[in-house]
Amino acid sequence: MLKERTANNVHTAFVEEAKAYQRLHMFAKKATEEELPQIAHLFRAIAAAEGVHSRRHFGLLESVADTQSNLDRAFQSETAVNGIYYPKMLQEAEEDDEQDAALVFSQARDVESFHAKLYKKALDHLIAQRSTDYYVCGVCGYVSDSKLPDNCPVCGAASTKFEKVE
Ligand SMILES: [Fe+2]
Ligand SMILES: [Fe+2]
Repeated sequence: MLKERTANNVHTAFVEEAKAYQRLHMFAKKATEEELPQIAHLFRAIAAAEGVHSRRHFGLLESVADTQSNLDRAFQSETAVNGIYYPKMLQEAEEDDEQDAALVFSQARDVESFHAKLYKKALDHLIAQRSTDYYVCGVCGYVSDSKLPDNCPVCGAASTKFEKVE
């Protein structure tokens, strides 16, 4: 257990490094659009390094148990964000008339229930012996197992927006 002040600092460092990771990937995408591939490459390289930092900080905050426990924890987490946290955030975004945030929260809430179902399958030992492909919607994070959908069932994105998970 870290002392409180250090724990807070590690948490802040984790959040900021995780933000930098995402920000630099957005910068890289922009540089690619502006036909500056070497700058995009640089942003992705530094993003990878910030990813190392955020993982390292996170390792000070949380430990990893065995896979059965991890599946259970991941399932509980998805269930909580679907049932409690995102609904509350959605309601507050609607009250604030923040349409963009409301859309993102409502789709994230819906997607998390699908994530929970995928974990449930694993917990019920339905996938361990089988090789299953997964496809992730690049817009909302919906995950399809086995087949690439024509359109995302949550956000409607075309199949070209999906990425196969290696
Ligand atoms: Fe999720
Ligand atoms: Fe989607």
